[in-house]
Order: sequence, then C-alpha cells, then structure tokens
Amino acid sequence: MSGRVLITGATSGIGRQLALDYRRSGWQVWGCGRDEERLLGLESEGITPLQFDTRNPAAMNAVAGTLPALDLLILNAGNCEYMELAEGFDGALFARVIETNLIATGHALAAFLPLLGAGARLAIVSSSVSWLPLPRAEAYGASKAALDYLADTLRLDLAGRGIGVTLIRPGFVETPLTAKNDFPMPCLVPVEEASRAIMDGLTAGHHQIHFPRRFIWLLRLLGALPVGLWLRLGSSLVSKGRHS
Ligand SMILES: NC(=O)c1ccc[n+]([C@@H]2O[C@H](COP(=O)([O-])OP(=O)(O)OC[C@H]3O[C@@H](n4cnc5c(N)ncnc54)[C@H](OP(=O)(O)O)[C@@H]3O)[C@@H](O)[C@H]2O)c1
Repeated sequence: MSGRVLITGATSGIGRQLALDYRRSGWQVWGCGRDEERLLGLESEGITPLQFDTRNPAAMNAVAGTLPALDLLILNAGNCEYMELAEGFDGALFARVIETNLIATGHALAAFLPLLGAGARLAIVSSSVSWLPLPRAEAYGASKAALDYLADTLRLDLAGRGIGVTLIRPGFVETPLTAKNDFPMPCLVPVEEASRAIMDGLTAGHHQIHFPRRFIWLLRLLGALPVGLWLRLGSSLVSKGRHS
C-alpha cells in the first residue's frame, strides 16, 4: 500500500523514522518541523520538507493551501518537560507543554483535516503516560491525556465521513527527547522498532497502537490499582529519585 502522508515533527526521533520508512515504502511524504538543517536532510531522502511551528496557525493554513488531498495525516510533533514541584508549580512550563502538545495539535487539525477525505486516516501521537499518573509528569501527562480524549472524540465524529482515527501511545523510545532523561526507562525500544509498530498498526487500521506490549501491560496493571496503593508505590518512586 502507498499513498500521501504528512507527518509533523518529522525532523527528529519517531517522526523522522516514520518519514524515512514511509518514503522507502513508496509513499509521497511531507515532513514538517522547524529546524532548517534537519529539514534539508529530509529533502535529500526524497521527502518534501515543510517548515513551520505548529503553534502558528497562520503558517500551517498557508502551507495546507498548497497541498493535495492526503491518505494519512500523522500529528506527532511534541515536547516533554518535567515539573519540579519542590520549586513550586511552574505555570510557565505547564503552559508551554500544553501549548506545544495540545493546543498546537488543534491548530494542525484546523489546517490539515480538510485534506482528508473518505478512506483517509488521521493518527495522533499521544503517550503511554496517560495510563498512570507518574511523578513530575503534571504537564506532559495532562497534555497527552487530553490528546487521548481528543482522538477518541474525533473518531466518533469523523466515522460518518469515512475517516479513520488512530491514537498512538508509545512506551519509551530511543530518541533525542528521551536521551535527556536522567532516570531508568524500562523496556526502552529503538526508534526503528517504534516506527515498524506504528506503520503495521496504521496499515491494519487499528483504532489504537501501543507498544512495547510488556511495558503497556505493566502500566495498565499499576493503573488498575486502588488509588491509595498507587499513592504509596508512586511516592516511593519520588523519594528514590526519578521516574519513567
Ligand atoms: N520518545 C518517547 O519515548 C516517546 C514516548 C511517548 C510519546 N512520545 C511522543 O512522540 C512524539 C515524538 O517524540 P520524539 O521522542 O520523536 O521527540 P523528538 O526526537 O524530540 O522530536 C520532536 C519533534 O517534534 C517537533 N516539534 C516540537 N515542537 C514543535 C513545534 N512547536 N513546531 C513544530 N515542530 C515541533 C520537532 O521538530 P523541530 O525541532 O524541527 O521543530 C521534532 O521533529 C512526541 O509527541 C512525544 O511526546 C515519545
């Protein structure tokens, strides 16, 4: 199967690997980001680079006006910052993360959703973090939990138009985003494996893609614990230092 795909956050990590793998599979790929040098790198791989900040709706609307209909739209651009509550609730950090991960996804939907018709698919990259409240993840976790709801609602509202919606919830993946983490990351997977899991799931038309399996089961199990029990376990993680 091949077609036309636009991927946000394609200059690094998961999005970059997806862009390369879709291109190698014969797809026409538009890869988006802000970093000019890395966008040029995509171009040398046969990917059409699109430069914009996803927090800028006007820039995305202008780009969308130049594009043909798409078969697949992958909204992947995002960032992660952890909160140090000992220093007080950091409202600016909270706003930054919510803006990049959630509000900007809304701007991207406004610009690019009109390019999807019957038979096309929208994919939103959330995270496995929303299965379990994790220490220091107030902003990141809240932004991703909101994306889960957004995708689930869009799936209902777009079904009548023949547009499928897939929610992607990766565990830890080796990328520049996780390279800066200073805590153990259980079941960390290479970015190539993440890309394969996502592409397979999208080809199969899955409503949700989550991986790696053993990590997801662990999160779901812990997430099903009574709140008081998780409070004790989670708090002991905090006292030991960093979390996943
Ligand atoms: N890695 C993991 O373990 C993991 C786990 C769960 C979920 N995720 C999610 O997967 C997605 C990709 O993460 P990653 O690990 O691949 O991170 P990454 O290597 O840091 O890549 C992030 C990408 O997002 C783009 N981006 C960030 N802010 C942007 C903005 N304001 N405007 C336009 N582009 C922007 C960056 O492009 P420029 O710098 O060129 O702008 C870059 O291409 C994120 O949504 C992340 O939350 C990652």
